[in-house]
Parts: sequence; structure tokens; C-alpha cells
Amino acid sequence: MRIVRATDYLDMSRKAANIISAQVIIKPESVLGLATGSSPVGIYNQLVEWYNKGDLDFRNITTVNLDEYVGLSGENPQSYRYFMNQHLFNRVNISLEKTYVPNGLELDAHKACIKYDTILNNTGRVDLQLLGLGLDGHIGFNEPNKEFSTTTHCVELFPSTIQANAKFFDSPGEVPTKAYTMGMKSIMSAQRILLIVSGISKGEILKRALTGPITPEVPGSILQLHTDVTVIADEEALSRMGDSNVD
Ligand code: GLP
Repeated sequence: MRIVRATDYLDMSRKAANIISAQVIIKPESVLGLATGSSPVGIYNQLVEWYNKGDLDFRNITTVNLDEYVGLSGENPQSYRYFMNQHLFNRVNISLEKTYVPNGLELDAHKACIKYDTILNNTGRVDLQLLGLGLDGHIGFNEPNKEFSTTTHCVELFPSTIQANAKFFDSPGEVPTKAYTMGMKSIMSAQRILLIVSGISKGEILKRALTGPITPEVPGSILQLHTDVTVIADEEALSRMGDSNVD
């Protein structure tokens, strides 16, 4: 695992965007695993900027997203499909039909999850998986649990996650309580993983995920077992880590 220190959110975003750009340039038909939330917004803005300069071509890229709220359609501004369209897909030359997000409108959880796993099987191995880290250590929407999940499944969101994500809604009461998320086994099967973490509020959980015991109680700790993880975190997020752990 490589841990790269960024000065702040902007620096983290540019460094991470550089890694994604390199992936797109070296392998134009890459499968990218993408994430939502506040953390990746700066990355997507940077990728769009470089696309507008003519440096990037997304026409042969396929993307699979980590998760989606149950009950929200892609037209709902709070859905992750809408987020991805707004922040990236509608701003570059990617083919929308090669961008995949779990279907929040399929209320039969079994069907929705099987369908998404079939999509993941068909798209093939993810070349580069982008991840954020939840305040409770979740990745995707894999909340702390007694065991690590495997494939796509439906989760009950923790109150702390609902609270943290309420910033994207008018009130916490509007945040859906369930989501479909890619499982940990699927996330871990990506060839390379890029974890981005920013802000003082993530300091303690980042330290636990990267240096604490590997346990489903801290889902992100499983990344310690992956052979190709790059963590890009800003000074604030790294403030609880010893210098010896960081490049
Ligand atoms: C959300 C998303 C995750 C995201 C995480 C952190 O709940 N499901 O994919 O990485 O929480 O979000 P943020 O970047 O807004 O802190």
C-alpha cells in the first residue's frame, strides 16, 4: 500500500485525477470503478478540465459505480446516477450506455442485486477502482458488520451515514434508509484501488482502516489485504497517522 500525502482537497483531487488520467491514456478501453460523495467531486472537475483541453478521450471507457439509494430514480437529483451524469458523464465523451449504476428503482432487492452482479461479470475486471471512506469506515455502502460482504446486496444505512449524507438533501428525513452496494469481494477484485480521503473528520477512521486490525467492523481495513492500493489523503486526514507510514 502506498500512502501519498496531499496538502489539501484540491491537491488530493489533482493527484488522484492524474492517476485516473494515466489509466485512461494507457488503456483507453479501461473499466473504471467510480464513487460518489463529496470526496471525488474535485477529481471529476479536473478530469473534465483535461478532457476539454483535448488530453483525455473517454469514448471506449466503461464505468461501474459502487452504489445507489433504493427508491430513487436516475432523474432524482439526489440519486447517484444523477450525480455521476452531472459531475462527469454528461461533461465528457463517454457513452452513457457503458456507464453502470445499480438500479434504485428496482424495489425487488434480489433482482436488483443479481442484475448488477451480472453487469459486473459482463464488464469484466475493474482496472482501477476509486473509493472514498465513510466516517464509520464504510466503502461503497458496506457498513460495519460482523462479516465482510461478498457480492451486491441491499444495506440498511447507519444513522451516522444518513446524517453525513444529509448535506446532499433538504433534510435528514429525506435520505433513503436503504441502498444497493457492490460487495467487498467485488471491490477487492479490482486490479488497482485508489482511495481518497480528505478532512480532519476522517483522521481517526483513516488511521484505523490503514493501521488497525483487519475487521468487518471497519470495512475499509480490508484494503490492507489488497496488493495494489494507493491512498491519497490530505494533511488533515493524515493528521492521526505517524510519519513513518506516509510517503
Ligand atoms: C457515501 C458513499 C461512499 C462515499 C462515502 C464518503 O455514503 N456511499 O461511496 O465514499 O460515503 O462520502 P464523502 O466523500 O461525502 O465523505
